[in-house]
Amino acid sequence: MTERATEELKKELLGLALEAARQAGELLRDGRPADLAVAAVKSSPIDVVTEMDLAAEKLITGFLSERRPADGLLGEEGASTEGTTGVRWVIDPLDGTVNYLYGLPSWGVSVAAEYHGETVAGVVEVPMRGETFHAVAGGGAWLGDVRLSCRPAAPLDQALVATGFGYLQARRAHQAQVAARVIPRVRDVRRGGSAAIDLCDVAAGRLDAYYERGLNPWDLAAGDLIAREAGALTGGRPGEPASGELVVAAGPAVFASLQPLLEEAGAWHDGDAG
Ligand code: IPD
Ligand code: CA
Ligand code: CA
Repeated sequence: MTERATEELKKELLGLALEAARQAGELLRDGRPADLAVAAVKSSPIDVVTEMDLAAEKLITGFLSERRPADGLLGEEGASTEGTTGVRWVIDPLDGTVNYLYGLPSWGVSVAAEYHGETVAGVVEVPMRGETFHAVAGGGAWLGDVRLSCRPAAPLDQALVATGFGYLQARRAHQAQVAARVIPRVRDVRRGGSAAIDLCDVAAGRLDAYYERGLNPWDLAAGDLIAREAGALTGGRPGEPASGELVVAAGPAVFASLQPLLEEAGAWHDGDAG
C-alpha cells in the first residue's frame, strides 16, 4: 500500500515551503543587481541562468536541509540528493528567469514537497505581485487566505489560454505551429513566461487554461497541485498524467475540449525535428 502523508506532516511541509519561498522571493526582489547579467547558458543560448537563480536555490536548499536533513532534494540548479524519509523537495528557485533578467514582474519561486512520489504540499511565491499561492493535497488551493476555484465552464471559443515555448529552436518552431492551430479556436492566447504562475492563474480563474510541452518537474510540481486543488483538471495526452511530454490544465469543461485539440495539433511532440 502507498504510504499516505498525515495531516500533521503536510502542515509541517507546507510551513517550511512557505518560509523557504518567502525568503527566496525577498532575496530575489531586494537583491537583484541593477546590472544583472547572464551567468551561464544551459540547453541552448537562450536558456539562461543568472547568479540570482543560483543564490535563491542555495538559500532554499540550505533552509530545508537545516530543518529536515534526511529529506531528498531536486532543484533546477543542481540540487539532487536522495533522502531517507520519503519526502522529496522539488524546487524551481526562480521560474520566469527571462522575465527577471529583463525586469518584467512575472517571475516566482516554486517549492513543492512530495511524499513517496505524490505531491502533498506546494507553494508559488510571486513577489512583484505580493502574492503567495499554496495548497496541500486534499486541503484546497489558496491565495493568501482566500480559497481559489478555477473559472466556471466556458465554450472553447471563449477561453483565454496561456502557453509557453521551450528553449530549443526546433521545438519552438513546432510549438508555434501548434499555437497557430489553437489561436483561431479560442478567445486569445497569453505567454506569461512562468509556468508555475500560469498554473496558479488557472487556479485563480485568471486564465481558462494553460498548456505546454517540455516542462521539468520543478516547473510543474507546486503549480499542478495548486491548480488541481482549485478544481482544475491537469493531464497530458488523453489518459496520461501531466508530464514533460505535455501539460494541460483547465476547468473540466474547457479541459474536455482543449485536450483533444492539442492531441490533434500534435502538442505532445516536436514535429519533424522531434
Ligand atoms: C521556464 C518558464 C517558462 C516556460 C519554460 C520554463 P525558467 O522556466 O516556466 O514559462 O515556458 O518552459 O523552462 O527557465 O524560467 O525556470
Ligand atoms: Ca522553470
Ligand atoms: Ca528556473
